[in-house]
Amino acid sequence: MQSIPITRPDLGTEEALAAQQAILSGWVTQGPKVAEFERAVADYCGTAHAVAVSSCTAALHLSLLTLDVGPGDEVICPSMSFIATANAIRHAGATPVFADVNPQTYNLDPDAAEAAVTPRTKAILVVHQIGLPAEIDRFLEIGRRRGVRILEDAACAIGSRYKDRPIGGHSEMACFSFHPRKVITTGEGGIVTTNNARYAERLRLLRQHGMSVPDTVRHNARQVIIEEYLCLGYNYRMTDIQAAVGVEQMKKLPAIVARRQQLAERYNQALADHPWLRPPHIPADVEFNYQSYAVQLTTDAPISRNDLMQHLLESGIATRRGIMLSHTEPTYSGRILPHDLNHSTEASARSLLLPLHASMANEQQERVIESLRSVACEQLS
Ligand SMILES: Cc1ncc(COP(=O)(O)O)c(C=O)c1O
Repeated sequence: MQSIPITRPDLGTEEALAAQQAILSGWVTQGPKVAEFERAVADYCGTAHAVAVSSCTAALHLSLLTLDVGPGDEVICPSMSFIATANAIRHAGATPVFADVNPQTYNLDPDAAEAAVTPRTKAILVVHQIGLPAEIDRFLEIGRRRGVRILEDAACAIGSRYKDRPIGGHSEMACFSFHPRKVITTGEGGIVTTNNARYAERLRLLRQHGMSVPDTVRHNARQVIIEEYLCLGYNYRMTDIQAAVGVEQMKKLPAIVARRQQLAERYNQALADHPWLRPPHIPADVEFNYQSYAVQLTTDAPISRNDLMQHLLESGIATRRGIMLSHTEPTYSGRILPHDLNHSTEASARSLLLPLHASMANEQQERVIESLRSVACEQLS
């Protein structure tokens, strides 16, 4: 029996040929393909600018620096997120302050975030967890009222929509990931979308060592240009090989999202009457790309989450635990937790991610559903 992976990147011949062409063109690092990829993402997200970088972690780091977040500042974020969310705040020299999530959506709870605001709060880093859009308008309103900046960790959210608009243009900056676990991939990679030209300029400077003139400009110049290094920058460049793959992935994005939504709907229907598994809760004003499909065990489930994962693994079905808690990791030990994270703790412990990717066959999904039903029957008998 073939095993069913948790996910699989949807890459094909188009991406392979595009990478080949980039390699053979002689321009392999940040160059014309990066510019083309940036245009494609900005157009899709409806933003004026997109700035590609080497990862979403890099995108978050530079976005925070662009908002002048630094030592002495606090940034509110969920603990229940991939650790890169909180780490990026530390990379900027600031302090992550963890606030609790909504137990149904796993997204930062706006009330909990507001309760965590102090005179040192510079920003709220809103995460669209596993691609499900958070309540951005409420955060924007809190930001205006309390004088804090709002930016989005949209690592998983390319292709999702909030109130009929794509994720990407709602706050000052949104940061996406193109890691292979995401809906589309460039191998590794990230991007910041923004409508603010000043921010875009700053991000471009920071991603390339603070260099005053990009390589592409020097390359095309008819006169010698001697560049200057205007600020302490980083090497966070995306390569043109990655961007060439990204351009092809962007063309496929609508079809990939549609297939994911179709598979998710099949899971929703199949699990609607499951005795102790709850399908995801989707708020009315969002469209979900289903970067991951998370189910939650009820409190009276007759099996533990880890035993269920083990049972599925023995049937050749890969799952993953639900979203991690950053504050319980050794690198965060000893930090003061001023706010309770009860919902995060419960939701993280009782959730798991089921296999879902656009090239998953219906038959594979039926095997997953059948296994979940058979565990339920075994537990009842
Ligand atoms: C919510 C969240 N933020 C940030 C990241 C980091 O993305 P990258 O691996 O591109 O740095 C991830 C990756 O899984 C993520 O899920």
